[in-house]
Amino acid sequence: MLKAKILLLVGALLPLAMAGEKCVWARGKVLCERNATKQLNAEVRLLDKDGDWVFQTIDPDDSMGVTFANEDGSFTVEGCGYDRDWLPFVTNDPEPYIQIRHNCNTDDGETLILPGFKTFVPDTYEAGTIKLDA
Ligand SMILES: *[C@@H]1O[C@H](CO)[C@@H](O)[C@H](O)[C@H]1NC(C)=O
Repeated sequence: MLKAKILLLVGALLPLAMAGEKCVWARGKVLCERNATKQLNAEVRLLDKDGDWVFQTIDPDDSMGVTFANEDGSFTVEGCGYDRDWLPFVTNDPEPYIQIRHNCNTDDGETLILPGFKTFVPDTYEAGTIKLDA
């Protein structure tokens, strides 16, 4: 009985979830001038500042996607977020931003947060070259 109720609930939520999906393609390059070997495996995470509460419950860190930089620092990351168009005519797109975890300057690691952007598929967001050196 409970199972049937859960299925019903999931079924009711799915169309809502599909409604406002927006996807992001982003690429860029991290640069660690003091030691270029530390560019490799810098963690590049795509997050949504404006995460939907439903998905926030399921996925509290609001991660849309994650990747690791190549040896030359280049990366591409992609993921999808959901908008919250609760009111007609008011669009509330996801607000993606990129977070980079690296240990360019210290072995303990650092987190760098880049400004948010609103470029969605089919356009590619060009994050450019990001200097990690402090
Ligand atoms: C650069 O980083 C690598 C990996 O952490 C390390 O093995 C190497 O000793 C570092 N080189 C210099 C010049 O600090």
